[in-house]
Amino acid sequence: MTNDKQLMTNGKIMKILITGGAGFIGKWLIEKMPSDVEVVIVDSLDEQVHRRSKDFAPELLARAKCIKADVQDIGEHKEAIEGTDVVIHLAAQTGTGQSMYEISRYVQQNANGTAKLLELISSLEHKPRRIVVSSSRAVYGDGAYSDGKSILYSQGRRVEDLQNGIWEVCGADGQPLKSLPMHESHLTKPTSVYGFTKLWQEQLLQVYCESQGIDLVTLRFQNVYGPKQELGNPYTGIIGIFTNAIVQGNRLELFEDGKVTRDFVFVGDIADAVLECATYEKPLNTILNVGSGVAVTLVEVVETIAEVIGKKAEYTISGRFRVGDVRHAIADMENYKTTLGHWTPTSLKEGISQYLKWYLNQEPLEQATLEASLREMEQKGLLLAKK
Ligand code: UD1
Repeated sequence: MTNDKQLMTNGKIMKILITGGAGFIGKWLIEKMPSDVEVVIVDSLDEQVHRRSKDFAPELLARAKCIKADVQDIGEHKEAIEGTDVVIHLAAQTGTGQSMYEISRYVQQNANGTAKLLELISSLEHKPRRIVVSSSRAVYGDGAYSDGKSILYSQGRRVEDLQNGIWEVCGADGQPLKSLPMHESHLTKPTSVYGFTKLWQEQLLQVYCESQGIDLVTLRFQNVYGPKQELGNPYTGIIGIFTNAIVQGNRLELFEDGKVTRDFVFVGDIADAVLECATYEKPLNTILNVGSGVAVTLVEVVETIAEVIGKKAEYTISGRFRVGDVRHAIADMENYKTTLGHWTPTSLKEGISQYLKWYLNQEPLEQATLEASLREMEQKGLLLAKK
């Protein structure tokens, strides 16, 4: 992504609206945004994500017109949004576990928020030519498997099996199936409320954009991590939680048998992908995975973090499990590479090094906050133990 190319639409400076622009990915986008793009941010500064500040950060105020509003009330800000060429829709609630009990909040913010954004767009005189939406690999749910002959889709792991320590998705013969990298052509079968709300966002946008001839780019992110990821939020993801525990010398807990796999993608790479899609000259009209394309087990991620910190990690493989978690997730990045011509993701070790440098200048997440979030999940019956 070059910062010096003049970004114009019909001879005018390009105007981009970023919903949720004050969040983790939004902050990176703003930093990388070419200087000649006019930017409007709409963000509610949700307390769960913005614990320490009720205002927009100075670097956002200096670069963009910042509007503090819930995306569900975006219709009240039509005047500031008129003339937008590209919408980057990031505003969403993102905690998979939390979505399983704060159900209406997730449905409201993610699905209704998108609906309200579309109603606003339909009332604009000048419609945007493109919308880029941050979706999630959560739409694939447990993903696709192979028995060596054909592609199979799991019905979701059964709680009863998990309680008996059967962690892998198994075939009819009870043998573990081979998990396949997630491909955009695979079926969407969410296993969490969060996953459903992301799928609904995708579908609302698809049907609307098609009717209006708006170019829609749906990006399905894997597990995003990196500097600026809110630390006060215990629903933030394991790289933050594990780094925090190892630096503080606290014992951490690995769920299941520690062999769950995830694809960790560095936030700077995500921001590059979003910007490239937002400013791409030709129509894209596509769904693309965005991940590192590398599967890492929970044990491997802890060991990598410990190696970067230079301290031994104390951990328990607890056999507890979160209801709704998927076992394996990794992105197939071929479609992305074919469409955009390149993809060179940051390695996990390099990304964690950058994260650690940033983390060491932050106030740590309090152990009590993390424990309270786990207790809450336990009380709701969503964090269970193996029998
Ligand atoms: C994450 C995101 C979600 C996003 C999805 C796909 C969070 C909270 N969720 O889900 O928004 O859509 O990726 O991009 O960032 N674990 C432990 N010990 C702990 C905490 C978690 O072993 O103390 C395990 C979990 O059971 C899970 C794995 O670590 O198997 C990853 O968990 P987490 O970081 O919460 O992310 P995802 O649920 O994968």
